[in-house]
Amino acid sequence: MSEPREHGATAASSLSTSSPSTPGTPAPAGPARAGARGAMGESLLEVRGLQKHFPLTQGIVFKRTIGHVRAVDGVDLTLRRGETVGLVGESGCGKSTVSKLIVALERPTAGSILYKGKDVARMGGRALKAYRREVQIIFQDPYASLNPRMTVGDIVAEGWAVHDDVAPRKGRLKRTQELLDRVGLNPDYVNRYPHQFSGGQRQRIGIARALALQPEVIVCDEPVSALDVSVQAQVVNLLEDLQDEFGLSYLFIAHDLSVVRHISDRVAVMYLGSIVEEGTDEQVYASPSHPYTQALLSSVPLHEPHLRGQKDRILLQGDVPSPADPPSGCRFRTRCWKAQDVCAQEAPALVDRGQGHPSACHFAEARMVVPVDVE
Ligand SMILES: Nc1ncnc2c1ncn2[C@@H]1O[C@H](COP(=O)(O)OP(=O)(O)OP(=O)(O)O)[C@@H](O)[C@H]1O
Ligand code: SF4
Ligand SMILES: [Mg+2]
Repeated sequence: MSEPREHGATAASSLSTSSPSTPGTPAPAGPARAGARGAMGESLLEVRGLQKHFPLTQGIVFKRTIGHVRAVDGVDLTLRRGETVGLVGESGCGKSTVSKLIVALERPTAGSILYKGKDVARMGGRALKAYRREVQIIFQDPYASLNPRMTVGDIVAEGWAVHDDVAPRKGRLKRTQELLDRVGLNPDYVNRYPHQFSGGQRQRIGIARALALQPEVIVCDEPVSALDVSVQAQVVNLLEDLQDEFGLSYLFIAHDLSVVRHISDRVAVMYLGSIVEEGTDEQVYASPSHPYTQALLSSVPLHEPHLRGQKDRILLQGDVPSPADPPSGCRFRTRCWKAQDVCAQEAPALVDRGQGHPSACHFAEARMVVPVDVE
């Protein structure tokens, strides 16, 4: 099935939330609902010292814990209203674990997640239910994340069974069709099954499912990684449009810096369970100061032939160490060309050492890796 046309012109207006959504549907929560890009509000999510250590066990009948996989090991992040934070890092560095912790699918080993100033771990009953509605997730694999035995209409409407105050029973079919239309799918496909759609279309179904609950935050866990490049751009554009229209905040996860650049206001770079550099997209792209960020940037393909010669090529040696046995001190030291003795002894704090934004490197130093005008 080919990728859809941008379908939403008509129903977009009926879903447009400046006129709080569809008639009969409560207005999306929160004051910022339109044109939020560029005007960041108060902090919505504050992640502090977040850790998730999975036990490593041995034995079949008598299980013994023989160690821990330190999937997330001290992550700090802030997400403000209307903002997109890009979280980037290689496979296995803990990005999905962070996203599962944020949407309360996993419980942290240590650290805290504050939502609108309230500790999610201490939420119960109504507050937790509201949190689960307001903070939605879109998964990496649009094939695996949709139940193949449910129709698209049922998938989109599923959340209303729990959060039945969001959409009155009577108008649910119409509302589902409006949501499909808004994400660029034909509303007449409401009774089709996921296998009847392409990868990009399935991701649009996942977006409609998240949108159905009128969230404030969407954690996008590599939503475009499994898609063709041309389809990636369409899905990213859709997410940007929805952000402007609904005042959404995104934590946008990717393993490729070029993908997050288009959508992020700020970027956090992750390596082996923690954040190694953080800044505005301008700071991270134009003056990366952590060697790992510099290496990641140097691997971003440049589309302009005349700029290719200006790129600094940095080839990283070795593999990412196991999170079950990370290196002492700086975790990047086994692959770092700048490593000194102190790097094995002291873990570098994520602070600004004069380069203008925080970097977890004892010898942080801004270095232009790609020409700054490159998108
Ligand atoms: N339930 C679990 N039990 C044990 N180890 C786990 C579990 N979930 C994740 N891990 C381990 O934690 C580490 C981080 O995994 P995670 O899926 O968060 O990485 P990721 O950055 O999302 O990777 P990718 O880019 O491949 O999606 C990996 O080493 C993974 O094997
Ligand atoms: S602290 Fe040392 S090992 Fe770590 S990134 Fe900086 S120079 Fe490299
Ligand atoms: Mg992942």
